[in-house]
Amino acid sequence: MSLNGSVMTRPGLAHLVEGLRAAVDRHADWERTAALVTDVLRDRLPGPDLLTAEEQAGDPGGYQSHLLHVEQDGGFSVVAVVWRTGQVTTIHDHVSWCVVGVLRGVEHEELFACPTGDHLVRVGESANAEGSVSGFAPPGDIHRVHNPAEQTTISLHVYGTDVSRIGSSVRREYHLPIRPVED
Ligand SMILES: [Fe+2]
Repeated sequence: MSLNGSVMTRPGLAHLVEGLRAAVDRHADWERTAALVTDVLRDRLPGPDLLTAEEQAGDPGGYQSHLLHVEQDGGFSVVAVVWRTGQVTTIHDHVSWCVVGVLRGVEHEELFACPTGDHLVRVGESANAEGSVSGFAPPGDIHRVHNPAEQTTISLHVYGTDVSRIGSSVRREYHLPIRPVED
């Protein structure tokens, strides 16, 4: 993942980054930071024109991540993700807190638990509509995300780390059987 473009040339990004910096610089714990960042992203959610027309179009080969900003001290990163119909992540968890806002379309999320280490249980799902913002802090953040709709989805992700140094926000991918919840 490389840093694409500049904070100054992407509409709304400089304003957003300024707000994120103030929230993260409060040095609260992860859960509180995710809540503070959720408020900022909700207030300052940019439009899809944050991305160029070419970036907004996505890629038939898979969902595309665009790293838009990394804070100088590595405190947070801002990544836009473009999902064409049906494009899906692996089942994974994260190295840090994360806040996601949907700029266009719908982002469908399934949540999993890994109770004994040898299988997964699906514990929840949500369809995050355009304009919605939600955040979380590990643990309990095993999920899979996809675009279930015909329209291309664009979402904006803020992570509490420098993702350019570790390549992505993923801590671990889970290639385990999914079993029904036992009574
Ligand atoms: Fe994720």
